[in-house]
Amino acid sequence: MKIAVLGTAIVGKTLAEKLSALGHDVMIGTRDPAASRARTAPDTFGGPPLSAFLTEHPRVALGTLAEAARHGELVINATSGAGAVEAIQQAGPANLEGKVLIDISNPLDFSRGMPPSLTVCNDDSLGEQVQRAAPGAKVVKTLNTVNAYLMVAPGILAGGDHTMFVCGDDAAAKATVTGLLREWFGWRDVIDLGGISMSRGTEMYLPLWARLYGALQNPMFTIKVVR
Ligand SMILES: NC(=O)c1ccc[n+]([C@@H]2O[C@H](COP(=O)([O-])OP(=O)(O)OC[C@H]3O[C@@H](n4cnc5c(N)ncnc54)[C@H](OP(=O)(O)O)[C@@H]3O)[C@@H](O)[C@H]2O)c1
Repeated sequence: MKIAVLGTAIVGKTLAEKLSALGHDVMIGTRDPAASRARTAPDTFGGPPLSAFLTEHPRVALGTLAEAARHGELVINATSGAGAVEAIQQAGPANLEGKVLIDISNPLDFSRGMPPSLTVCNDDSLGEQVQRAAPGAKVVKTLNTVNAYLMVAPGILAGGDHTMFVCGDDAAAKATVTGLLREWFGWRDVIDLGGISMSRGTEMYLPLWARLYGALQNPMFTIKVVR
């Protein structure tokens, strides 16, 4: 499948690596490909800069946000919370028309230090803002409740015995994404929360996630809904 991954940081690279290894035709989207290739600093998790990543993964292409959105039959948004709506606007709503758009972004605001607060909550969400920015796309919010490594390999924690959420307004798109989460990554327990406004719930989990991270000093934890 032709897949666009919007985002050049840890989430974008982790997803691109996994999806390319699965045989998919992946293009990463970034605001300025030349500037992104020229970065020499490691990412925030100590991983290689983008140019080294691209050298190590020659089948992963790099383009502008719009080029990637045009490339993808399915598009994944892994841009920062502060930049997500702008990224979708640059990707171009017309390039996203009719496509499944998996939104992983969280509306985290680090401007007042740690733990972060949320730029939007309660009566709106970033998932809804992304859907409004690309009204013709079928936005499915998922994977935003776990760290990048768990997204693509839930089995590395508790044998994968934990829970992922999906929400979105298009039932067929949610069913597609639920199937892909299982097929691509091995997610077994996926709960459909409802429409895209249910993003408010998973995004408002992030303040607790950040405090758990502070307490545990380790990002390898997540939710298991016992029922
Ligand atoms: N890190 C995790 O484990 C984790 C877990 C769950 C969810 N998430 C969410 O996933 C998303 C990606 O996280 P991350 O840690 O990989 O990266 P990040 O540092 O949050 O975001 C980096 C990406 O955001 C883009 N970006 C920043 N400002 C922008 C703007 N004004 N307009 C357009 N694009 C902009 C950057 O574009 P350029 O490529 O052009 O620089 C880059 O690709 C975030 O929303 C985060 O909250 C992260």
